Amino acid sequence: MLYQQSISKLQTFIQKQSLVHIGAFLTTLLSIILCSWLAIAQQPVTLNMLITAPDAQPWRQGLIRDFEADNPGIRLNLVEGPNATNLLEDLYTSSFILGESPYDLINMDVIWTSKFAAAGWLLPLDDRISQQELAAFSPKDVEGGKYQDKLYRIPMRSDAGVLYYREDLIKQAGLKPPQTFDDLMRISQTLQKKDKINWGYVWQGRQYEGLVAMFAEVLDGFGGFWVKPDTLEVGLDRPETLKAIEFLRNTVSQGVSPPGVTTYQEEDTRRLFQSGQVAFLRSWPYAWPLAQAENSPIRGKVGIQPMVHAPGYTGAACLGGWGLGIAKSSRHPEEAWKAIQYFTSREAQRRFILSAGYVPSRRELFTDPEIVAKYPHYPHLLEVVDNAVLRPPIAQYAQTSDILQRYLSAALSGRMNPEQAMQAAAAETRRLLGTKKV
Ligand code: GLC
Repeated sequence: MLYQQSISKLQTFIQKQSLVHIGAFLTTLLSIILCSWLAIAQQPVTLNMLITAPDAQPWRQGLIRDFEADNPGIRLNLVEGPNATNLLEDLYTSSFILGESPYDLINMDVIWTSKFAAAGWLLPLDDRISQQELAAFSPKDVEGGKYQDKLYRIPMRSDAGVLYYREDLIKQAGLKPPQTFDDLMRISQTLQKKDKINWGYVWQGRQYEGLVAMFAEVLDGFGGFWVKPDTLEVGLDRPETLKAIEFLRNTVSQGVSPPGVTTYQEEDTRRLFQSGQVAFLRSWPYAWPLAQAENSPIRGKVGIQPMVHAPGYTGAACLGGWGLGIAKSSRHPEEAWKAIQYFTSREAQRRFILSAGYVPSRRELFTDPEIVAKYPHYPHLLEVVDNAVLRPPIAQYAQTSDILQRYLSAALSGRMNPEQAMQAAAAETRRLLGTKKV
């Protein structure tokens, strides 16, 4: 009896012990799960964004650090890409086509919106921002972020092609800054003859997106057009286009531009101008603070004005600019939106512009006293942006641009007769867009 009692006590004891053990085990397991869940939950979300390597620097100078300090749960990882918008676009495009794109935020050139939106790669942003908030931005920049009346991109910075000139040399020669294409040629040759400079004018002539951005301005200055977005009418085989090509070819044949200009991108032209060897440069406003930097040989000697034009026309600036969108495939759309709100906010943009010399997309910043003290030409630049020409905002823009890049480059570098080149470019563009010659 006593023996049986002892056995059953022992059994109860063992059972209790097992329960205690199981309980302890479960508690430990639960706390491990809880801790790792908490650890995962507290781990910052990383947003990936691809950007051209030179553009990454100004982002790294404070902008990202300040954003991350304000948003401890979010990290921004910049992936540096090649310094040409079309190459960057190719990388974004292939990542979306192949699926599993790593990018959450898309730093978009103004010309990409239609294609990316039409392909369904972007989240619409209309519900996230009010009309009143949008009214603070330049209307053309907002327009450049829309496709079929839906908004996909918030403008982070604007851009517009401008003409830089050597104010000092022009004054010393008793001349005035140029108004027309002919003035530009004449002043260049006068200064070249005086041995003041080696070259008169540098422009972006390489076969890439910068070529057609530059060309859109010359074309408009002669009263021509490329593609009308509403009717898809193509103007490449019209006489104005040939005049625009003739002007550019003359710059080389008359020794005003170096023969190598047909291989130059923005930075090649900017470096040559900044070295003091050139009278005129067509570029974007980013070149201004660099030309004015302490070690720049042309510091304090440069003027900036709208592009020249043919008599009877006005000078045109090509609208450029970059904005932010959210990839539809992103797993962190809310965090991505927070980042967009921050980077396009008044304060962030103000600091970005002051440090990098880019063009604001918020209108009030063009006349902000601190910004004007540093960049006195900005109030005037607002007019330039307001009147800028858009490259055709159509879903087939990338192919349309590619056609013009190929034939224009062939015509400018003498590989094709300009008339034949433009007839072929016009025919190919019409085939692509499904339109007929009007
Ligand atoms: C600038 C402009 C952009 C344009 C590019 C061409 O980055 O902002 O819109 O496409 O230059 O090179």
